Amino acid sequence: MPFSSAVASCPFKIGHTPLTAYQVRIGNLTHELLVKEERCNEFGSVKDRVAWYILSKTIEKMGPVKSVVDASSGNYGNALACICQRMGIGATIVSSASISAHNAAQIKAAGARLVIAEPKPGETANAARMRLAGEIAAQEGSVFLDQYSNPLNPAAHQNWTAPELFADGPFDAVFMTSSSGGTSRGFADYLKAHPRPTQLCLVEPESSCAFLDAPSGCTDKLKIPAFGSQRRSSFAGMKPDPGMIRMDEATTLAAFTLLHERQLSKVGLSSTGVILGALEWLARQDKPARVACICADGDERYLDEIQSRYIPSVGQEPYESALQRLAPVIDGIKCLGPVNADAKAAAH
Ligand SMILES: Cc1ncc(COP(=O)(O)O)c(C=O)c1O
Repeated sequence: MPFSSAVASCPFKIGHTPLTAYQVRIGNLTHELLVKEERCNEFGSVKDRVAWYILSKTIEKMGPVKSVVDASSGNYGNALACICQRMGIGATIVSSASISAHNAAQIKAAGARLVIAEPKPGETANAARMRLAGEIAAQEGSVFLDQYSNPLNPAAHQNWTAPELFADGPFDAVFMTSSSGGTSRGFADYLKAHPRPTQLCLVEPESSCAFLDAPSGCTDKLKIPAFGSQRRSSFAGMKPDPGMIRMDEATTLAAFTLLHERQLSKVGLSSTGVILGALEWLARQDKPARVACICADGDERYLDEIQSRYIPSVGQEPYESALQRLAPVIDGIKCLGPVNADAKAAAH
């Protein structure tokens, strides 16, 4: 049988992720917030889709490949390493010192080579890993998949994640983190091709400048992997400009603790920031709204480093005051359970 890159013939359990509904009470209004649970993909994140999409289209075009190399903040590298292991393809993942312990361990456990890129003076972490991945591909003759510039990255979301989400629409707004821009560009392209009154909103910390200039001038280091990016996205330039919501990392960490303590959600850190951005947007509405959040991954990637790494990175005091401030906001959230047919089937 010829190799097929069609998403419907993906041999892994990627896609058809659950959509979990929450009722959100703010003031006198009750809103509906839907969480797209990308953590339920086989290798644990939204990047499973991108890794399969880019790799399968590349194989379809070039024929069988022996080894690939690419840059990643962690989740894509994890997915690519696992997929390559199953397909008997060698993989080199170039990441940064900020990679989570979980993703680093998974990449190695899948038999891939993990290389940490050191930025040169003035170079961002993201640019350093792209540079090194290109250099390794040239030296070793492996295929450079180039997710950060490859149009197949946003195409994975335009042709797969977005239509899957909008099948459960309509939504007044859809929220995601900008990160390196693949998801948001794919959603922007989908909305351009299928116009509807849905606002696209990107949530990211102050020091991120993936699409628009950062208020802080993009100088502070990012504290949460892939929550925003310090390099202008190769996929920037979509029109209309997406809505931009800034969310600080201390508030994000506090919300992560509260959501987990109250067993409301098992999403990861950037995803928690995205939910907070949606709550902030909902608080500005004057009528009930229905919104969706693309939640890139799950809590298992962060729980082991919350105390040792993430809370110290934002400071104990800002974290604790955010806990106090957020507790009543989280009290207004009630989980209603899965809404889409795929999720209901998975629950049985
Ligand atoms: C934690 C996290 N959030 C969000 C994203 C989405 O990033 P992008 O849209 O650039 O693919 C990623 C991608 O690596 C991620 O790891």
